Amino acid sequence: MTAPTLEIHLTDDDLTAALRSDARAGLTASPKTLPPKWFYDARGSELFEAITQLPEYYPTRTERALLEQVVGEIARIARAEVLVELGSGSAAKTRLLLDALSAAGPLKTYVPQDVSESALRGAAAEVAAEFPGLAVHGVVSDFTDTLHNLPRGGRRMIAFLGGTIGNFAPAERAEFLTAIAQVLEPGEQLLLGAGLVIDPSVLVPAYDDAAGVTAEFNRNVLYVLNSRLRADFDPEAFRHTAIWDAANEWIEMRLEATRDMTVAVADLDLTVEFAAGEQMRTEISAKFRVDGLTAELDRAGFTTEHAWTDPLQRFALVLAERR
Ligand code: SAH
Ligand code: TRP
Repeated sequence: MTAPTLEIHLTDDDLTAALRSDARAGLTASPKTLPPKWFYDARGSELFEAITQLPEYYPTRTERALLEQVVGEIARIARAEVLVELGSGSAAKTRLLLDALSAAGPLKTYVPQDVSESALRGAAAEVAAEFPGLAVHGVVSDFTDTLHNLPRGGRRMIAFLGGTIGNFAPAERAEFLTAIAQVLEPGEQLLLGAGLVIDPSVLVPAYDDAAGVTAEFNRNVLYVLNSRLRADFDPEAFRHTAIWDAANEWIEMRLEATRDMTVAVADLDLTVEFAAGEQMRTEISAKFRVDGLTAELDRAGFTTEHAWTDPLQRFALVLAERR
């Protein structure tokens, strides 16, 4: 096998600088908020993998089953030479896509991209070992500001799976989809995996599991602040909550202070007060309707070629072509 190559656009220092600015803005805002990409240090990526195995977390296994069914068709339509995957994480489901694209023909290169260097290194090494004929080139970066760095040349398909598209606010989502369209050539493709609007009695437990793994994942952002910015959060004094916002059709994850607290963030020279019961938003996970999603893709410059859903209509895979 050929060893994977790695391109790092986010060094440890870059991450610290970005976290400083996000933490200062978010912790001094009212209400307080923190952006979700800070969940994913090495421990956060492991906790997310544990979430994907939970009985309540239906998205991963639903998307996997759907992919198993339709990868052949996707590969026939796409005939990609390069598969770029944004927010690839462990790339567990991607193996299905790589198998099908290799069988269908011209796949030469896989480019996993993630903000989590540990997850990326692991995934790149595993895929390179499993697919000896494939060139694997990992990119450590923030997908919101480095799309222009993605490799060119060869017919590309960008995959963005796992419902991560739902983690953007609507305006940022429109901007992100447009930015993806802009780095693609006409005729190249986007494969998007998105969670659908379903009964909140199924949806909410997926983000608030009985074993408390999601709670620990949510609190991980506080451990990241403690280690990177020398903050003194007591993470266990924050309670995880997941709320279905029916008007916006998104799940909102928050951390709620269980008592009054004064938290010092040494590296920011910042002291932050939390009142008992105060909630800080850490993530949204928007859910979609197929029509809405294809309309958003259309506005961004894509024509939907096919949208597949699972039998219970919980998850969609959309293959769209850059116009
Ligand atoms: N695609 C995988 C993982 C989804 S979890 C799956 O379907 O299971 C979201 C992934 O996006 C994580 O691996 C996380 O590290 C990555 N991520 C989150 N924010 C990011 C950002 N701003 N830039 C790049 N990657 C990001
Ligand atoms: N992209 C995943 C999703 O929206 C991320 C995720 C799953 C997540 N569970 C979470 C983020 C819990 C924060 C808290 O489904």
